[in-house]
Amino acid sequence: MPHSPSFSGQPTVTASGVEIPLLGFGTWQLEPDDARRMVREALRIGYRHIDTAWIYKNEKAVGDGIADAVAEGIVTRDDIFVTTKIWVEHFHRDALLRQAEESAISLGLTPDLLLLHWPKPTPALEETIGALNEAKEKGFTKNIGLSNFPSALFREAAALSSAPLITNQVEYHPYLSQKTLIETARELGSSITAWSPLAQGKIADDAVIGEIARAHGKTNGQITLRWIMQQGVIAIPRTTKESRAAENFGLFDFELSADEMAQVSALARPDGRIGDWLDEAFEWDQDA
Ligand SMILES: NC(=O)c1ccc[n+]([C@@H]2O[C@H](COP(=O)([O-])OP(=O)(O)OC[C@H]3O[C@@H](n4cnc5c(N)ncnc54)[C@H](OP(=O)(O)O)[C@@H]3O)[C@@H](O)[C@H]2O)c1
Repeated sequence: MPHSPSFSGQPTVTASGVEIPLLGFGTWQLEPDDARRMVREALRIGYRHIDTAWIYKNEKAVGDGIADAVAEGIVTRDDIFVTTKIWVEHFHRDALLRQAEESAISLGLTPDLLLLHWPKPTPALEETIGALNEAKEKGFTKNIGLSNFPSALFREAAALSSAPLITNQVEYHPYLSQKTLIETARELGSSITAWSPLAQGKIADDAVIGEIARAHGKTNGQITLRWIMQQGVIAIPRTTKESRAAENFGLFDFELSADEMAQVSALARPDGRIGDWLDEAFEWDQDA
């Protein structure tokens, strides 16, 4: 994990020359008031990467939270990495460009990264990837990427794209293997971002993770996020609580051994997926 002079020296991953902080703050299901309050608080705690999406209906609130932190001198725009996503109903060229512009206006800034939220069989990937590149060329985003793309489609999209697709944001936590996709991202010079990194809170009761947590004087959440980060995978946990945002940030001062990493990886199971909204035209990678 290279440490960089930017992003307050936090561990980052570099994908096609773009540095991305390995820890981000997720905002799915945060109502606008909570989103504004928690984004400002996350930046105060030290998070330097914020994740939102058009469909979360909180881009404006996220932008306001960032603006609050900038006004208070907590961060400058360039200290942070902001991701948003194109909703699936906006995959035709004109609609995609319209939403890209609208998202930038709502956020009050040009996002660092704009993702296609979920793959769709129509319109053709060529049109959507072309439009995503155009959004970058028009200055509606600094970089582009994907979300919820299985390996075969990830490769297809990468081959169609002029600009590098710098991440593929997918469900990833101790109960779901993403071995194949992580390998695919490495081969493509891209990265993986883990959504629901805490399995939506389920890791809190895990006995195996609990034992490792006790050995390190850490919490189950911290062990889980550290396990993701030590793989060079980006994690974007979400919380409505200031105390948990601080807890989830406490993962830079310890290290998991190879054996502890393997113990957490061994928790993966075939029915571990939480959010399966993949179009039936596609198939997830079949991990061992
Ligand atoms: N691209 C996609 O399709 C996609 C899909 C889903 C999510 N995402 C992104 O990924 C982010 C994270 O995923 P997520 O929100 O589904 O789930 P998550 O971060 O795995 O879990 C959030 C849940 O865990 C609880 N929690 C937070 N910290 C905890 C801790 N240290 N110990 C125990 N419980 C804890 C939270 O409750 P409290 O609020 O009560 O703390 C909340 O209920 C989202 O916010 C969103 O930005 C993307």
